[in-house]
Amino acid sequence: MSQLLTIADLKERARRRVPKMFFDYADSGSWTEGTYRANEEDFAAIKLRQRVLVDMSDRSLETTMIGEKVSMPVALAPTGLTGMQHADGEMLAAQAAEAFGIPFTLSTMSICSIEDVASVTTRPFWFQLYVMRDHDFVRSLIDRARAARCSALVLTADLQIVGQRHKDLRNGLSAPPRLTAANLFDMARRPRWSMAMLRTQRRTFRNVVGHAKGVGDLSALAAWTNAQFDPRLSWDDVAWIKEYWGGKLIIKGILDEEDARHAAESGADAIVVSNHGGRQLDGAPSTISMLPRIVEAVDGRTEVHLDGGIRSGQDVLKAVALGAQGTFIGRPFLYGLGAMGQDGVTLALEIIRKELDATMALCGKRLISDIDRSVLAQ
Ligand SMILES: Cc1cc2nc3c(=O)[nH]c(=O)nc-3n(C[C@H](O)[C@H](O)[C@H](O)COP(=O)(O)O)c2cc1C
Repeated sequence: MSQLLTIADLKERARRRVPKMFFDYADSGSWTEGTYRANEEDFAAIKLRQRVLVDMSDRSLETTMIGEKVSMPVALAPTGLTGMQHADGEMLAAQAAEAFGIPFTLSTMSICSIEDVASVTTRPFWFQLYVMRDHDFVRSLIDRARAARCSALVLTADLQIVGQRHKDLRNGLSAPPRLTAANLFDMARRPRWSMAMLRTQRRTFRNVVGHAKGVGDLSALAAWTNAQFDPRLSWDDVAWIKEYWGGKLIIKGILDEEDARHAAESGADAIVVSNHGGRQLDGAPSTISMLPRIVEAVDGRTEVHLDGGIRSGQDVLKAVALGAQGTFIGRPFLYGLGAMGQDGVTLALEIIRKELDATMALCGKRLISDIDRSVLAQ
């Protein structure tokens, strides 16, 4: 493939360059993957209104997310094991996001640590928190995010137990991969990935190993993560987390109007309408289909963001038209990273920016703040 013009092109290149177990980890949803597919399909079903002979000069995609200036209404979503799509993946993606002028969100379950990412960035990034049973460890993660000058805490609410993803079980997903004959053969066929991975020291969950009690070696880590997500997490916990953090709080994983109202009442600065990219409750509706009623339910009391299924700038425009102040992308940047490292993340962002800009113009709008339902065909 000589030209990489779409997110789908980046996906196909990533499929060739990233070991199967990690490519599949990104390209999977839970159980039947019905919700994973619906996220994309429901965006495609929304049609745009073509307008002509409107002055399209002086366009700008700039806007804000939680008060932070962004060059377009897109942030990089928190994704676990990003440093397995490409060596040092979180550091590379954070640097690409910074250069582009958009927020990067680091997952609790990242390979590069909070401190690793802070060491290569100057723009404050956002830290995504999973709440573990060990609240001392949770507090220590928050302390570390504060010390690293993170400008928002993204509390993920939809993964206290894990939706089963069949591909991960069949592939025996682990980080680093076990050195079985099949894995060694697969890695040997991906020399770029393997050489870069040999050159880095960052091959395990560096936010956790050496920080959480009793987790020093990898066998302990697997048992620890399986047992650690706190199933008792409730709205009561949001209050102490918000207070302990003391900064901007984003609650991610809201897909229901009632939960959205709770989140607004909890004082969250923003919510992310999300079904975890179709990786948790299979059978749940797509995020874009739920967005309008969630926007209505919160009625301006908190900012509404959306993720799930965004594969083009057109999808970003559709989400903004239906009331999202900003969006997050997961797989599009992971495919870019797997395909070409930092340059691939930049390319993914450029593809989305170009599509968003041209689509906005062809809908007769010049600014993000001009985009509303009037750009949609009824
Ligand atoms: C490979 C992968 C790993 C993910 N890991 C996390 C995570 O650690 N924390 C989290 O809050 N969300 C995680 N998510 C969900 C994303 O933050 C986001 O909600 C989702 O990817 C959005 O859908 P999209 O991939 O269609 O853009 C993950 C998603 C993927 C694809």
